[in-house]
Amino acid sequence: MKRLLIIAGLWTIFCSASTFAETTRTDGKAIFDRNCSVCHSITPPPKSAPPMMPLASRYHQKFKTKAEGVNHMAAYLKTPDKNKAVDPQAVERFGLMPALSLPDKELRIVSEWVWDQYNSSFGGCGGPGGQGQGRGWRKGQLNK
Ligand code: HEC
Repeated sequence: MKRLLIIAGLWTIFCSASTFAETTRTDGKAIFDRNCSVCHSITPPPKSAPPMMPLASRYHQKFKTKAEGVNHMAAYLKTPDKNKAVDPQAVERFGLMPALSLPDKELRIVSEWVWDQYNSSFGGCGGPGGQGQGRGWRKGQLNK
């Protein structure tokens, strides 16, 4: 019984952490709708740019932490560079993304939101547990 309580407690912590992220998610979504959705859909099929969900998944493969991924993405949105693209094929297929003149703060918020799109595809409360599962699953695939 005691163990169950501990598990329930941890679960609440994970889930409240993701509720905390909810504010970023809502703001990020608003920034996305205003500035990005003309070119980017969230899930396939693509509009005139790669959909966000697969891009977020690439970021999760390439960067170990959210901070690294968000830093790279925010910098990319400001000055896109085909040598820095996480998916060089996307640049060939869609052309290079135009630089966005958004305030740095908004670039960061929207980048955090994009990063989180990958976790949320795993369902659950999207806390650190979800991310761990995602990584394990992918590792298994790669080792085959
Ligand atoms: C005018 C169309 C257009 C708009 C607006 C646009 N994008 Fe893009 N974006 C693209 C295209 C085309 C690519 C693929 C080529 C590339 O990577 O440069 C891309 C690539 C990306 C990538 C991959 C970057 C990487 O590291 O390889 C991310 C992340 C991204 N966009 C996020 C956003 C976000 C977030 C916004 C809004 C704040 C946005 N884009 C607005 C066209 C657009």
